[in-house]
Amino acid sequence: METTLKNGEKWYDTDGNVIHAHGGHMLYHEGWYYWYGENRNDNNYVACYRSKDLKTFEFRGNIITTDTPVEKIRVHTDRKLFTQNEDGSIQKVNLERPKVLYCEYTKKFVLWVHYENGQNYLDARCAIATSDYPDRDFTYHGSFNPFGSMARDCTLFLDDDGRAYFIAASRDNADLHIWRLTKDFMNTDKLVNVLWQGEYREAPALFKKDGKYYMLSSHCTGWAPNQGKWSCADSIDGEWELLQNFGDETTFRSQPAFVLPRDGKYIYFGDRWGGSEHYNDSTYIVLDIKFDSDGAPFIEYDENAAL
Ligand code: GAL
Repeated sequence: METTLKNGEKWYDTDGNVIHAHGGHMLYHEGWYYWYGENRNDNNYVACYRSKDLKTFEFRGNIITTDTPVEKIRVHTDRKLFTQNEDGSIQKVNLERPKVLYCEYTKKFVLWVHYENGQNYLDARCAIATSDYPDRDFTYHGSFNPFGSMARDCTLFLDDDGRAYFIAASRDNADLHIWRLTKDFMNTDKLVNVLWQGEYREAPALFKKDGKYYMLSSHCTGWAPNQGKWSCADSIDGEWELLQNFGDETTFRSQPAFVLPRDGKYIYFGDRWGGSEHYNDSTYIVLDIKFDSDGAPFIEYDENAAL
């Protein structure tokens, strides 16, 4: 029996377990929607689910854990996935907001994620992992600061011409940086834009509609939700419009995770965070993005997820 998914409630996979795909991303590949996101339980970092109908989700596994194989690449990185305490116990690092793209050039699935050392948020790095498959056998390649810059809340965006971009909060979150990736998606190639200096935008989510680039983002208030904003640009490296409100003063108690284009629609996925004490109570808010007569995107609250 099909049940409607309710916004802000716990969602379950086809095994009956709670879906942990926080700060996530979806990749459509060969008929499947792959949903990646944070799973902070046990030795896990990133979980993967898949779905054809976006109503039922099959758990495919935790694709990054403390046991994920680690392999050096040409880019100089720090390859620690955990640190060992003096008593032998393991201290996990923090991997947040995982995003995955398929690289047509190398035929690899490439994951980018925000890395922190597990103690504080001072490393502000990105980290990468790759696989030949969307949902298993990922290899971790380590973390780094792109061109020496800080990179915290992040997203990936694949343009129609096959170029990919990594967008992350930089300079202690003050500005949002857009880096074009190398054609194998394994490194940042060029800083193509620095946005909204001093406006402290995070949780970026990009989509492209009718040739225009749109970006949603939140302000910087930790786990607490705040007024979402949107902006648009005719080219990703060009001038972005001034930020305008998106959703209500708490973005309906959510923070952007990603936008899924689907059948001519644009679907907003937000996280309703449980916070550090109740992180596993975090849920999802999924709403249809509508556009007014001037083309401005907006969302209205609905208790049913727009899936
Ligand atoms: C938020 C960020 C989340 C997480 C949280 C930790 O601002 O968007 O991904 O890092 O802070 O406090």
